[in-house]
Amino acid sequence: MIKINEIYCTDCVDFMKKMKKDFVDLTVTSPPYDDLRNYNGYVFKCDEIAKELFRITKKGGVVVWVVGDKIKNGNKTLTSFKQALTFQSMGFNVHDVMIYKKKNTPFMRSNAYTNCYEYMFVFSKGSPKTFNPLKEPTVRNGYEMLVSNKKADGINKKVLGKLNKEKVKTNIWEYAVGLGGSTKDKIAFKHPAIFPENLAKDHILSWSNQGDLVFDPMCGSGTTCKIAMQHQRNYLGCDISQEYVDVAKKRIKSAPIQISLDSL
Ligand SMILES: C[S@@+](CC[C@H](N)C(=O)[O-])C[C@H]1O[C@@H](n2cnc3c(N)ncnc32)[C@H](O)[C@@H]1O
Repeated sequence: MIKINEIYCTDCVDFMKKMKKDFVDLTVTSPPYDDLRNYNGYVFKCDEIAKELFRITKKGGVVVWVVGDKIKNGNKTLTSFKQALTFQSMGFNVHDVMIYKKKNTPFMRSNAYTNCYEYMFVFSKGSPKTFNPLKEPTVRNGYEMLVSNKKADGINKKVLGKLNKEKVKTNIWEYAVGLGGSTKDKIAFKHPAIFPENLAKDHILSWSNQGDLVFDPMCGSGTTCKIAMQHQRNYLGCDISQEYVDVAKKRIKSAPIQISLDSL
């Protein structure tokens, strides 16, 4: 029996096969990137993962798949897009292809511009059932004389109008990475490839509501699970490495619960 609000050490395909269909509201995850890192003997089966994720995701549920490409002999692998096509062939909509821009990135190339982003594919099972759009402040707001539509006389009239204080964010999200950026939890850096807590938070708030089940099938240091727990979601995680599962469990145990405004 799978208990929620737990992290398990297992292969994610075997784990998902034990889950009921239409079980998970939101998945936020990041697979191993090509063979950039050598995780303890993982076997990566993208088509089986996509197939099982489709089965366990509720109708209207979302899978956020964060991934970057390796450069091999001067050639980008485009594994990210091959994986996205696999998800599409399993029945998911490619709802959006978002960019995770890194504020600080040390990996320079001598003959190309410094890469500063990864993809965040947003796959959905049908139309997303939840979208709580995140907003950002506008540069100009308040009342201003605004250009109104030109009529046949060609005169550009201005009328007093109100500019909004906030607008919905674009689909390029920027985060600081490294200690203090991705997280303040030193223990998380026992894992070589964590994503920022704020990235997990922004997706969790966007595509799920309190009480929903948020899943990470390759949870590494437990970023998604920790942030889901802190925002009053249920979580479920697994990773093939016992070492990372131990890190994730310790991290979650010492994480303070956040009181979010919508729970007051
Ligand atoms: C990019 S890392 C995820 C990092 C995570 N997002 C975080 O913030 O810590 C990918 C993880 O996938 C795990 N992994 C690889 N193959 C797996 C499999 N078949 N089943 C479960 N986990 C797997 C690796 O052990 C690794 O921790």
